[in-house]
Amino acid sequence: MTATPLTASERPRTAEKVPLVDLSAEYASINGEIDAAIQDVIARTAFVRGPFARAFESQWATYCGASHAVGCANGTVAIELALRALGIGPGDEVITTPLTFIATVESIVHAGATPVLAEIDPRTCNLSPEATKAAITPRTKAIVPVALYGQPADMGAFRHIADTHGLLVVEDSAQAQGAAWAGRRTGSDGVADATTFSFYPGKNLGAYGDAGAVTTADPALADRILRLSDHGRAEKYTHDQVGFNSRLDGIQAAVLSAKLPRLDAWNAARRRLAQRYDTLLAGAVQRGLLRTVEQAPDARGVYHLYVVRVAAPPAGAGRDAVLASLRDAGIEAGVHYPVPLHLQPALAHLGYGDGAFPEAERASREALSLPIFPLMTEAQQDRVVAALLAAVGASGA
Ligand SMILES: Cc1ncc(COP(=O)(O)O)c(C=O)c1O
Repeated sequence: MTATPLTASERPRTAEKVPLVDLSAEYASINGEIDAAIQDVIARTAFVRGPFARAFESQWATYCGASHAVGCANGTVAIELALRALGIGPGDEVITTPLTFIATVESIVHAGATPVLAEIDPRTCNLSPEATKAAITPRTKAIVPVALYGQPADMGAFRHIADTHGLLVVEDSAQAQGAAWAGRRTGSDGVADATTFSFYPGKNLGAYGDAGAVTTADPALADRILRLSDHGRAEKYTHDQVGFNSRLDGIQAAVLSAKLPRLDAWNAARRRLAQRYDTLLAGAVQRGLLRTVEQAPDARGVYHLYVVRVAAPPAGAGRDAVLASLRDAGIEAGVHYPVPLHLQPALAHLGYGDGAFPEAERASREALSLPIFPLMTEAQQDRVVAALLAAVGASGA
């Protein structure tokens, strides 16, 4: 007997996947503004830097509370440009965290300086001020704290350390557009000497390609960054230094300008979702099956990522097993970051071995990023939570 094939409406419906981030839904909610912005750039053929970049730079400076913002090609070169324009280069040491995207350290290497890694604070997963202090040598010139997962590091402590030891602070805020420290927006005057941003598409404020920016209170620094990013030129064909082609392009700037008015509402939605995760996961946290990542006391984060830590066996289910269960359940979770930078083959020359930063290594084994994006529905979040609780053995808790 041959089975009659089921019609589409008879087939069992598999629940749709829950993505880690949903850029299509975001575009669908603003496509009119985005399409018009892109058309405008094309109509005015203002493709590289030009009026759209200048407009976004001014809007971004105002939004951050910064005197100056300089757009550039991406968030990696933003750090390099800031360091170079601050005069940091060969022979200088720059302290940063081993728990970040490799771009943070790449840019220090590209500036010609030596990255020095220091341990994280296990509560926040951000660079530890105490470990930073201990890593200072006579060659140290700067600290690069990273606002990991969108939550600012302890910027008050870093400012104090820098002022005490005559160092510079360049904050890598690639993941933290709109976050705040002690009531001041990330990137505002007076927190770091320079703050760098990435507008990679998946970021809280994302372009439709690569883009970045640096903010600073210092007009001379802003001018040096601008020139460096544009072939070291003062005028069209007068180059007073060898620079880079690292300019912000017009289409990306126009997209960012179109999206910027939504950033606060999007960040508020992320915070609401994060709070709801905190509440729904509190039982599993109490039972020691999961740990949440705390914010530094004065930080107001923007949850670029919502990260929980999964206890390793025998106390817990183990991160990799939980990640696999979530994937089986159609939940797209992530890991930021599975290998701390001191154990990356590309950075072996820095000379750190296994065990150099036990807290960063432990966080790399335990961290699990759950889906979070402004248009995520509570139903989607409930599915993530149910699958997670089942995977860690906390269902019905
Ligand atoms: C912490 C951190 N720093 C720097 C970067 C580099 O930004 P971009 O990808 O725009 O070069 C990123 C991007 O993912 C990041 O997460």
